[in-house]
Amino acid sequence: MYFSYKNSEQAVLSDVNLKIDQGSRTVLLGANGAGKSTLFYHFNGVYEPSCGTVLYNGQPLRYRRKALMRLRSEVSVVLQNPDDQIFSATVEEDVAFGPRNMGFPDEEVAERVDAALFRTGMSDLRKRGTLKLSYGQRKRLTLAGALAMKPKVLVLDEPTAGLDPQMACEVMELADLMHRDGTAVIISTHDADLAYGWADAVNVLCAGKLTYSGDPDGFYSDRSAVRASCLVPPLICSINRCRSIISGRSISPYPHTVPEIVAKMSSSAITPGKMTIFPVDESASPDTEYIKKATMDICTGVCGTAARKAVSKGCPAGRIFSGTDGCLAETVGGKNSALLCDRRMLPAVTERLDRLKAMGCAVESEMADVRDISGYTED
Ligand SMILES: Nc1ncnc2c1ncn2[C@@H]1O[C@H](COP(=O)(O)OP(=O)(O)OP(=O)(O)O)[C@@H](O)[C@H]1O
Ligand SMILES: [Mg+2]
Repeated sequence: MYFSYKNSEQAVLSDVNLKIDQGSRTVLLGANGAGKSTLFYHFNGVYEPSCGTVLYNGQPLRYRRKALMRLRSEVSVVLQNPDDQIFSATVEEDVAFGPRNMGFPDEEVAERVDAALFRTGMSDLRKRGTLKLSYGQRKRLTLAGALAMKPKVLVLDEPTAGLDPQMACEVMELADLMHRDGTAVIISTHDADLAYGWADAVNVLCAGKLTYSGDPDGFYSDRSAVRASCLVPPLICSINRCRSIISGRSISPYPHTVPEIVAKMSSSAITPGKMTIFPVDESASPDTEYIKKATMDICTGVCGTAARKAVSKGCPAGRIFSGTDGCLAETVGGKNSALLCDRRMLPAVTERLDRLKAMGCAVESEMADVRDISGYTED
């Protein structure tokens, strides 16, 4: 498809042919002005292509009011600039706006608002006036608004820009959680390290043209393509490349995260430790004393909103953000670790352990006995 802004002859998007798979974690990369935000505005029908078609579930978008309302109940686009998206006077009113507009009963609206505010760490600010929020808080508010819609497709335009490191990690965890719940998640970012650690599909825009579409390693292995797109490779990608030149060993498999590169570099030198995983869910009351005793003197980490809630009830929290990476790196380095983990994030942790195995480092892991956590019920 092609797109030009009104009063401009020049196409901002040209010949862009792109498919987003339902089950993928997709990242859109591109320099400033490449056309990322413009493309995202096409996903929920704010802009209509000058030439070509946007399809959703195989059907061309229709641009009548009702059809757009239906589309936007399934496709949530969180804009780059939160001020373009916040209209209500208070935080809770703003999050409630979408679900209320969809005609949900009051109880369901309240339930969705509570859950979305909790997940984005905004519960304490629910009564605050939106004009009194900081930039990062406004970004979180727009994300909460999107979560409250329970969308099938979640599009996040530079979601971590301007957020503190903890919140940036939590946003990526949320994106992972949404993806595992079956939501297609598409993110634009200038953070190459973040993109590499998270995405399994990468699309690159360069001056309005799609120059790459495929897996992250395919793009970042082609250094001239990365340069031509005015981008930089992720740090881990560069370290892996240098290591393979120095050691004469194969450049693949490609590590994507710190624990993975540590695993690859030290695979035969160190016997890895064991990671104990304590699964918790949001409705549980974890036995904090048991967990404290079981994790004494070892590195502890936190993963997911339920685990953060457990910390607020007194569970130990060494690494409150980037907990999975922290614990895995420690374990790869030969020490034991304990991860307090949101039960919904367990498949993500298993995936991370499998990737370490692929790097030549089989980290031992065990699930803590769930019966030791009072209030936790097995399915
Ligand atoms: N409303 C508009 N009217 C005219 N031109 C616009 C408008 N919005 C964006 N543009 C132009 O379209 C091009 C693409 O802009 P866009 O905001 O999509 O880029 P981007 O890739 O999101 O950049 P960034 O990384 O800075 O967010 C730029 O040249 C920009 O100046
Ligand atoms: Mg943009």
